[in-house]
Amino acid sequence: MKVKSYFPIFDNQPDLVYLDSAATTQKPQSVIEAIVNYYSKNCSNVHRGMYYLAEQATADYEASRTKVKVFLNAKKDKEIIFTSGTTAALNLVGYAFLAPRLNSGQEIVVSLAEHHSNFVIWQQLAIKNNCRLRVCRLDENYRLDLEHLSQLLTERTALIAINHVSNITGTINPIKAIATLAKRYSIPVVVDGAQAVAHLPVDVADLGVDFYCFSGHKVYGPTGTGILYANEKYLNQMEPWLLGGDMISKVGLDSSAWNEPPYRFEAGTPNVAGVIGLGAAMDFMTSLNWQSIAKREEDLLGQLTSGLASRNLEIFIPESHRSALVSFAVENIHPHDIVSLLAEKNVAARAGFHCAEPFHRAQAKNHGTVRFSLGIYNDQVDVKAGLDALDYALETMRAYA
Ligand code: ALA
Repeated sequence: MKVKSYFPIFDNQPDLVYLDSAATTQKPQSVIEAIVNYYSKNCSNVHRGMYYLAEQATADYEASRTKVKVFLNAKKDKEIIFTSGTTAALNLVGYAFLAPRLNSGQEIVVSLAEHHSNFVIWQQLAIKNNCRLRVCRLDENYRLDLEHLSQLLTERTALIAINHVSNITGTINPIKAIATLAKRYSIPVVVDGAQAVAHLPVDVADLGVDFYCFSGHKVYGPTGTGILYANEKYLNQMEPWLLGGDMISKVGLDSSAWNEPPYRFEAGTPNVAGVIGLGAAMDFMTSLNWQSIAKREEDLLGQLTSGLASRNLEIFIPESHRSALVSFAVENIHPHDIVSLLAEKNVAARAGFHCAEPFHRAQAKNHGTVRFSLGIYNDQVDVKAGLDALDYALETMRAYA
């Protein structure tokens, strides 16, 4: 069975050439059905009702937690906290974990290739607490300069925040090696895994990281869902960030006491339908063969990058240790013009700074880039269509030059 046939969008939009999976992935029928099933058969709140529907919804919601735990190879269900996405998960680490323990003069280490969601929170916490944000360089091959990272780490470092896969260069960072370096000073490590989870197996125990975040919608699941994996050892050291229902165990007129983790960090009615859909996405992911996904994506990426290289474009991609996306710039042509022309040929791609302005300012001469990104449904026909559409865009723009 063709992978595309699991995804109804390709029946409904037969001309679509979707090369924007780094922005969001398409959804398989099983995920859509899980959401429809919840709303049409089981709709109720979780952790509150004592009737059948509420018990079923709670059981399905909690089953998703277990599925994510298995997917990430975490030890305990309570280490999995549901959020609205990677951004909320990283902000949760910022406000629940780091802010209460951050002291003036400390430092937070990030890389130049972070998405804004793993940059601005640390920059702002540093500013507010009289701390310093240290930014690790990339080498000439768009990979993290590990020697520089090692120099940046000191007893003053309060946290390392790093992406697993860059959303601009596709570089796969050596997270295990970074976690080993961090142990020298017992520095907690938080990983933005948004661009990794759909493309490589993630094992938080093997990686040795303290926090790992991802978004459901980038792993064939629903929008508005996300995960924070937090190592058990930190759960009781984290302050609740959002306050309200379900995160308390007792509320008096003068004081309140907190529920156990992970509920302590899931205030208010959660995205029940989304979390149940995320559970279906986890089932979908675990039914796949990682080796064949990796091989297929690597082959398509090779086809894409050599096609781009033969068109003399500036390509921002490492030669190895790279995932399923490629960004490029065309001299004297705005990336928005390119993607608008790609859209005329039904090719969906993203252009701009991709929420990674520091990278573009430093490495791409202040210009935005065009990004093609792959999902498991893409094939050689899509890649060829993307490159043909690019030729159309380049010819059209150059005719006006
Ligand atoms: N973070 C998503 C991207 O890189 C939206 O496109």
